[in-house]
Amino acid sequence: MTSDGLVATAQALVGGGRGLLAIDESVPTCNTRFADAGIDQTEETRRRYRELLITTPHLAECISGVILHDETIRQGKRDGTSFLQVLADAGIIPGIKVDTGARPLALHPSEMVTEGLDGLRGRLQEYSALGARFAKWRAVFPVGVRSPTACGVEANAHALGRYAALCQEANLVPVIEPEVLMTGTHTMARCGEITRHVLCSVFEQMHRQGVRLDGLVLKVNMVLPGLDSPPAEPVTMQEVADATLACLLEMVPPAVAGIVFLSGGQSCERASARLNALNRQTAFARARIPWSLGFSYARAIQQPALHIWGGLEANVGAAQQAVSHRAACNRAALRGDYDAAMEQPGYGTPGSVRVKQQAH
Ligand code: G3H
Repeated sequence: MTSDGLVATAQALVGGGRGLLAIDESVPTCNTRFADAGIDQTEETRRRYRELLITTPHLAECISGVILHDETIRQGKRDGTSFLQVLADAGIIPGIKVDTGARPLALHPSEMVTEGLDGLRGRLQEYSALGARFAKWRAVFPVGVRSPTACGVEANAHALGRYAALCQEANLVPVIEPEVLMTGTHTMARCGEITRHVLCSVFEQMHRQGVRLDGLVLKVNMVLPGLDSPPAEPVTMQEVADATLACLLEMVPPAVAGIVFLSGGQSCERASARLNALNRQTAFARARIPWSLGFSYARAIQQPALHIWGGLEANVGAAQQAVSHRAACNRAALRGDYDAAMEQPGYGTPGSVRVKQQAH
């Protein structure tokens, strides 16, 4: 792939009114979610669950790319067809999470640094040969009274720059994911302040390390109050959209191919409604936004389906309908066409969501 190929892949991921589905949970994270849902935690149950997600009918109508995990990229359907082949046949671009997780940052209590740079060049070559066309690396920033510190932000930003440069060298589009966590009692203003600091440092590193901005995708948190912040002043969808947009317009270079949001622990409905508010701007505001604002959700697409499935073959069809529904709600949100009525029981099958969207 040439550098023009990188740009084309990045555009294919974020353009065309579709979003990303993240199914790249590590084995321990996947097992924790299975345990919460009363599902056996084995390699085979993880494979069956990923088969359910990947083979959801009409997934490609709403999903442009799927982020896989190292275990999943090597797996396939029960009939032996590889997941990569299933995605290729559906017209969905396969991606791969390549970091090896966040660990405590030495001498900085409560801060984390993401690891995985050792041997990354070789792993990227292998993933590229397998068929991956983009990659993901997540840096996490827990919010404390005095954290994240400049050291914590710089350590993670530098690693994101190293990762992104290695990806582009291997002709993989880097999805860079700096995530200011929702856990905590912080205000929305504090989240905005930290997100600005993080994005400033991240894009400085992209520049220093020669990363091509039109060949990368930014995956970022919305600007939100902490999950345990006092409930006295609940924020509206519009306030979240305004605070998030102000932050991004200030800190993200216009050349970046596109921005996608993570769901980060928001409910499915809020993740859709807030994305909708971000995309339902006045014409004046819209004209100032240089990137598409999309989604790259894991929990906010998967969570209902996981609980419906419960590990039982008999529930696969119903679980896939739940995946389709969330994917369709988020696709509608990309156009500012999402409506809370879509969440009403009996609103319709995923098929009727599609019909309603086309009517707009
Ligand atoms: O790295 C995190 C995932 O890609 C996004 O997950 O939507 O559940 O926050 P989430």
